[in-house]
Amino acid sequence: MSRLLIEHGTVVTPSGRMAADVLVDDEQIAALLAPGTVIHDDAEVVHIDASGKLVVPGGIDAHTHMEMPFGGTFASDTFATGTRAAAWGGTTTIVDFAIQPRDGSPREGLDTWMSRAESNCAIDYGFHMILSDVTEAALKEMHGLVADGVTSFKLFMAYPGVLYSDDGQILRAMQAAAECGATIMMHAENGIAIDVLVSQALARGHGEPAMHGVTRPSVLEGEATHRAIVLAEVAGCPLYIVHLSAQEALDEVVHARDEGRAVFAETCPQYLFLEDDVMARPGFEGAKYVCSPPIRPHGHGEALWRGLGTDDLSVVSTDHCPFCFKEQKELGRGDFSKIPNGLPGVEHRMDLVFQGVAAGHITLERWVELTSVAPARLFGLYPKKGSLLPGADADIVVYDPVRAHTLSKETHHMAVDYSAYEGLGVTGGADTVISRGTVVVHDKQFVGPDGHGRYVRRGAFGGIDVPRPRMQPSTNAKGT
Ligand code: URP
Ligand code: ZN
Ligand code: ZN
Repeated sequence: MSRLLIEHGTVVTPSGRMAADVLVDDEQIAALLAPGTVIHDDAEVVHIDASGKLVVPGGIDAHTHMEMPFGGTFASDTFATGTRAAAWGGTTTIVDFAIQPRDGSPREGLDTWMSRAESNCAIDYGFHMILSDVTEAALKEMHGLVADGVTSFKLFMAYPGVLYSDDGQILRAMQAAAECGATIMMHAENGIAIDVLVSQALARGHGEPAMHGVTRPSVLEGEATHRAIVLAEVAGCPLYIVHLSAQEALDEVVHARDEGRAVFAETCPQYLFLEDDVMARPGFEGAKYVCSPPIRPHGHGEALWRGLGTDDLSVVSTDHCPFCFKEQKELGRGDFSKIPNGLPGVEHRMDLVFQGVAAGHITLERWVELTSVAPARLFGLYPKKGSLLPGADADIVVYDPVRAHTLSKETHHMAVDYSAYEGLGVTGGADTVISRGTVVVHDKQFVGPDGHGRYVRRGAFGGIDVPRPRMQPSTNAKGT
C-alpha cells in the first residue's frame, strides 16, 4: 500500500481555505491533518512539498468528446491522448458523450464508447448518453443505462436530420428521465430556423467561416433555452443546459432558477475568452473557431462571468471537440456549414477559469466549485469525486497560483495542430496531479501508468428537489 503526504500547502474547497496536510492511503484520501502532524511509519510515506501552492480536488470536465464522429470525420483526440492532456491541466475525471447510433440503440452506443475508452484513459471517465433517435425502445433502455451509471442524457434542438429531436421527442425523453431519476442535458439552439438562415447565406454566395456566427444568432439560443425549460417543467425532470453562450439564454436560466426550477447550466472557456471577430480572421483562419453555439459578439462574455459569480451558471466544462485545422476544418472551405464543429480545450480549463480569480470575477473557492465540486454534485460523482473528504478518491491537484506560462500549440499536449488561445499568457498551473492515489503529472513530466483511468458509475442527479410535473393529472379538483 502506498501512502502520500502532501504537506505545507493551502487546501481550498468551496467552504474555505486552510493550511493542512493531506494524507493519501492507496487510492483514497485518508485524512486532512494539522500542518506538521507526524505520521507513523513515516519511512513508507512519499512526501510532496506543496509550499506556496494550492491543494484542490482534481478537476472534473463534464463535457468532452474524444473521438467524436462529426461531419464525416472524428475529433482528433483519442481517449488516450485527450485524457493525458486533461491530466496535464489538472483534470482528473472527464464525462464524455456516448452516442446512440441513428438506426440503433443507446446501449449499442454505450458499448462502442466503452470499448474506445477502456484501458486507454489516463484518468477516470464516465459517460452521458446522446439520444439521437428517441424511439419507444430507446426510452425503455434509459432505465438500464441509469442503473449502469449513465444518469444523464443529451438531446439536440440543433442539427436537423443528424442529432435533432423535435419537441414531442424531447418531452417524451424528459418524461422518461423524470421516471428513472436522470437529468436531461440540452443543446439549446433552434436548429430548424438556423438551417433556413444557413441555406440563405450559402445561396447568396457567403460560404466563409464568419457566416457560422451570423446564421446562429444568440436569440435562437435564447428561444430554444426557454422552450427546453418549459418542456422540462411540464415533464418534471432536472434540466442542464450545455455550452451556454448567450446573454438571452442566461436570462432564461436566471428566470427559471428564480422560480425554483431544477435548471442548471454550464458555460465553456471559449465563450468567456473569445469574441466573434475570431471567425472573421483572414483566409480560412476563422474555421479554427467554428463551434456551436458560436463564439458570441462583445458583451456576452461579461454576462457569463457575472453568471458564474452569482451561481446562475453552475459549471465550467470545455466541450472539448478538437479537429485539426489542416486536414479536418478544411472540409468546410467554401461552405462554412461543412466545417466540423468544435474546439480543443480540455487541457486549459482549470488555468483559464483561474484567470477569473485575479480578474475579480470569482473567488478561489468558487474556482474549485465551478471546475470540480459542482460538476461532481450535479452528475452523481460526489463525494467520491470533487471532494477532499476522508474516503474520497484521492484525485488531487497541487496548483501553483503564480506560475506564468503561455498557451500554444507548440507546448500543449492535445492532439490538434492549433490552439484556440495561441499566445495567451496565463498565471497559474497544475504542478502535481494525482489520480486515485497515483501521481500522473509531476515536475513537468507525465508519469502516469498507461490505462490507469477507470470507468466511473455515476449516481443520480445531485441538485435540488425537482418540482412535480405541471401537467400531472390530479385525482380531484383540490389535488388530494
Ligand atoms: O461545436 C460543438 N459544440 N461540437 C461538439 C458537439 C456539441 O454540440 O456539443
Ligand atoms: Zn452540443
Ligand atoms: Zn459538446
